Amino acid sequence: MSVRRLADDSVQPASFSFNAENQAWAEKTIKKFPEGRQQSAVIPLLMRAQEQDGWVTKASIEHIAAMLEMPLIRVLEVATFYTQFQLKPVGTRAHIQVCGTTPCMLRGAEELMKVCKHKINHDPLTLNAEGTLSWEEVECQGACVNAPMVMIFKDAYEDLTPERLEEIIDAFEAGKGDTIKPGPQIDRDFSAPIGGLTSLTDGNPKAEG
Ligand code: FES
Repeated sequence: MSVRRLADDSVQPASFSFNAENQAWAEKTIKKFPEGRQQSAVIPLLMRAQEQDGWVTKASIEHIAAMLEMPLIRVLEVATFYTQFQLKPVGTRAHIQVCGTTPCMLRGAEELMKVCKHKINHDPLTLNAEGTLSWEEVECQGACVNAPMVMIFKDAYEDLTPERLEEIIDAFEAGKGDTIKPGPQIDRDFSAPIGGLTSLTDGNPKAEG
């Protein structure tokens, strides 16, 4: 586990507020918890702040602590403990999270990280020159059967080759990430076997085709 600290003051914005839609969502979310337990909303609120600004700023941590009437240190503890929270700016067009756990590593994750080093920045969690892309190695994302894989925002891109990852990064860099279908990047149905079904094939047109 690496040391996780807030970003340098030089990149921290002076203030934070939720936009109108997120403020309404936050108020509704806080109300889901019983009276006196509003602090339980800290993780969803931090995640919403990250989705709004791209990363969790110091000002957003202070804002959420005030909203939930929590000591600032308690919110800081949560934000710095969970690696899902980005504590410094990530790429504005894509932050590539490369799974580096054993199944993905055995199936070529190191080659995917080489692509990220070459196309984005040698160092993880460091922006490219334009500020549009960044990458990091993460632990298992639960798609091991389709290893190797990366996460970008909330979508998984699986069964990757270095060449396919390059194409995906190029698409996001061009602002066309929505043209890439998430999931397996080969001819595989979700997590079904490559080449089609191997069991329970009687009367199954996919298996017979
Ligand atoms: S090991 Fe990569 S998704 Fe599980």
